[in-house]
Amino acid sequence: MNQGKVHVTETILRDGHQSLLATRMRTEDMIPVADKLNRVGYWSLEMWGGATFDSCLRYLKECPWERLRTLRKAMPNARFQMLLRGQNLVGYHNYPDDIVERFIDRAAAGGIDVFRIFDAMNDPRNMKAAIEAARKVGKTVEGAICYTISPVHSLEYFVRLAERLADMGVNVICLKDMGGLLAPYAAYALVRALKSRVALPLHLHSHCTAGLAPMSYMMAIEAGVDILDTALSPLSQGTSQPTTESIVAALKGTPRDTGLDLGLLGEIAQHFYAVRRKYAEFDSPVNNQVKTDILISQVPGGMLSNLVAQLRQQKAEDKLEAVMAEMPEVRKDLGYPPLVTPTSQICGSQAALNVMTGKRYSVVALETRNYVMGLYGEPPGPISDEIKKKVLGKKEPITCRPADLLKPGLEMARKEIGSVARSEEDVLSYALFPEIAREFFNWRARQGVPSRDATAA
Ligand code: CO
Repeated sequence: MNQGKVHVTETILRDGHQSLLATRMRTEDMIPVADKLNRVGYWSLEMWGGATFDSCLRYLKECPWERLRTLRKAMPNARFQMLLRGQNLVGYHNYPDDIVERFIDRAAAGGIDVFRIFDAMNDPRNMKAAIEAARKVGKTVEGAICYTISPVHSLEYFVRLAERLADMGVNVICLKDMGGLLAPYAAYALVRALKSRVALPLHLHSHCTAGLAPMSYMMAIEAGVDILDTALSPLSQGTSQPTTESIVAALKGTPRDTGLDLGLLGEIAQHFYAVRRKYAEFDSPVNNQVKTDILISQVPGGMLSNLVAQLRQQKAEDKLEAVMAEMPEVRKDLGYPPLVTPTSQICGSQAALNVMTGKRYSVVALETRNYVMGLYGEPPGPISDEIKKKVLGKKEPITCRPADLLKPGLEMARKEIGSVARSEEDVLSYALFPEIAREFFNWRARQGVPSRDATAA
């Protein structure tokens, strides 16, 4: 069992503000402490990917690629990490392989050292192209497993998934508990099992949403976890990660001491307290309250507010309780997908339809049909023939990798955006988010922002 030092990944530049400030932190608020972050000695600094790419273009009118280059220049020694949604990259649907490969190639060239790759369904086929592309450019690849609780998500299920990712050539296994559902003793058992059966470093990512994560981190440390995701105090706890300084202090003087300097961390934290106040309009006190509903209903907070809005629109708020009761039934019918985007919305919408119509699956949402067709990947558990027939009629689900159905898209994107794109990175932004990227390019032109070559000169 690992008894050496616990390594730390700092998430304040990505998940910290994605969880607590609606992903609104600007590059200009990262730069003043870049030199200090560069010197901490973190295992890695998560600073790109997830929702940040979309948010840069959509809300901040920042070029995400420019952010990457700017941070790289300001932090030459830090190991940069990004979160990548498998075949969805940093978007919300599958992209063709040529776009996946080019995106990862450019991200690596821009300065990403560690690619954390996951799939909401835990279907390794949806991670394959991304893993291969990241391996090809010689970067560190983390194969992430989405943690959830269901009758099919046994210890054995997770270990087998990790073994499969190891076979695909990943360098690190990440246990990704996006819902904060991982309980301390489950964490202990899972870390022990993964460490004893898969000969790779193990990285744990969790959220404090339900109040469990700090306890689970402690048990994971006892069980030999190698790397933990934490956020500096100004953007930790609540829907974010456990606190960096607390974990560092907890392990001080023990064999698992992180070796990080609390004084230096404190200086950096001072800066981010001011940053949090700057973005107060995106801050919600609810984000920092412990919410235990999820431990009973397993329904993530974001999904619940979507559901309430949906029912209100149809003047059926009184049906909320019935829909909440139907949701686990739909999840079971669909083979127990982890409840994250997009599967949480699929289960929620179909549960609402089942209740509103009074006859289950008499109306089937397009997304439910696509899900049962296999277009999101293979469900963790089986879907019964009865449900398949109700949803698909006489059609049969696909058996291939969903992205095999997509034609190459890069050249088409290049042609469409034409000379509005100033670089290969612009072409990729457009390929991922056509409308938002075009809007951003037009805005940029109006501002008279010089092209990258001009700024580099
Ligand atoms: Co997270």
